Amino acid sequence: MSTDARLVVISNRVAVPKARGAAGAQGGLAGALHSALKDRQGLWFGWSGEQSESGRTGNISTQTSDDVTTATIDLSERDIQEYYNGYANSTLWPLFHYRLDLAKFERETAKGYERVNERFAELVASLIEPDDIVWVHDYHLVPLGERLRSRGCKNRIGFFLHIPWPATRLFVSLPYHERLVRTMLHYDLVGFQTQEWLESFLHYCRGELGAEVDEESGSVTLEGRTTIARAYSIGIDWEHFSRLGETGTARQAQQRLMSSTRRRTAMIGVDRLDYSKGLPERLDGISRFFDKYPERVRDLVFVQIAPPSREDVESYQVIRATLEQKTGQINGARSEVDVVPVRYVNRGYSHEELFGFFRAAKIGLVTPLRDGMNLVAKEYIAAQDPEDPGVLILSQFAGAAAQLQDAVLVNPHSPDDLAHAIRVALDMPLEERKERYEKLIGTVRDDNVQNWTETFLRDLDNVPH
Ligand code: G6P
Repeated sequence: MSTDARLVVISNRVAVPKARGAAGAQGGLAGALHSALKDRQGLWFGWSGEQSESGRTGNISTQTSDDVTTATIDLSERDIQEYYNGYANSTLWPLFHYRLDLAKFERETAKGYERVNERFAELVASLIEPDDIVWVHDYHLVPLGERLRSRGCKNRIGFFLHIPWPATRLFVSLPYHERLVRTMLHYDLVGFQTQEWLESFLHYCRGELGAEVDEESGSVTLEGRTTIARAYSIGIDWEHFSRLGETGTARQAQQRLMSSTRRRTAMIGVDRLDYSKGLPERLDGISRFFDKYPERVRDLVFVQIAPPSREDVESYQVIRATLEQKTGQINGARSEVDVVPVRYVNRGYSHEELFGFFRAAKIGLVTPLRDGMNLVAKEYIAAQDPEDPGVLILSQFAGAAAQLQDAVLVNPHSPDDLAHAIRVALDMPLEERKERYEKLIGTVRDDNVQNWTETFLRDLDNVPH
């Protein structure tokens, strides 16, 4: 690190140390920042995940462990409804994942979002020292930097968006879109997962706000203020993850899956139960594969691990019902007394267990319809046996596809494309599997999460302020 300044991270959820490793497929943000915070004796502020009225009265609970202090607040029922379930997860999340059909635009939830951002600013402002570096994360907290500035905060403040940034023609469907983006121009540095999302953002700033944009440096100037916008692709904690294979838990998990599938090839998907992950489309692709190659029902077993997520939001209840129905249909039509083609599991597993399952599965299926990055794709590669690696089938619409070009890339909307990719992966000779793996593993190892945090924080230390 180029500076000794203390780091203050602010995100909706806070990963308390004991939760590390137990996250399973619960998203890339939690756990990713722990080492950067540790290096800088940092502070992590956010929602406790609990519901109570105490957050209103400024009741912050703090806990220090391993050189990192976490400071959390509870949210009231109304705040959770309007800010988290409402504007963040029923407006911004669907819209930013290109699901305008699922996006709800309600003035009340927009106000709740602004209110909670204001409360975050009020409470965290009292914890920020003049020399701290502040790093705000994700779509829940877009306006937070501007709210901090309005309270006189002069610190360097960076923002990272973990999800895609939509194309301008789609983004302008959001009422008051200008207001939201203008708040982003109070950050010193704004980071996106890929060049594609960055370009969409710059396109918006130039076309809709009339900002002066320099593509090369990523500088966006509006009304005398300059923000730098750049792409930083997040990676996995390689050091930690690649060592998990040595654990007894990982080996047992690997054995457990292998012995239950015997001579059949296991194909695995691990995703939060979210419509952006393309799960119904994935099942349609598998169904098409069995329609085309019925004799291969005995060759393949598909294991889908999908821990439920955001269960109070209606679109998540709908996707869950759809998946239950589709799984039932495939299994009803294709099972024999001794063969069930799809195993659908609604629970999360530890990182050790997931490592073992990934290693046992000779095909990894990661086919989101849209995804900021997707770290499951990188974890699947990191868990492979270099002497007998499995094949990653990856959606061309995951942010990770820009880096992982040697995966078998698919259009997740096309059942035929998916069916074809599954056949290609099942029949891929060892030599080709190794060649692809060698290229993929280099990227996964080198573009790791430590690299990501270091690059972002180095730039935040150095951008004009
Ligand atoms: C995505 C988001 C994260 C979020 C995670 C889990 O990865 O980018 O900010 O924490 O999903 O979603 P949840 O709603 O459970 O926090």
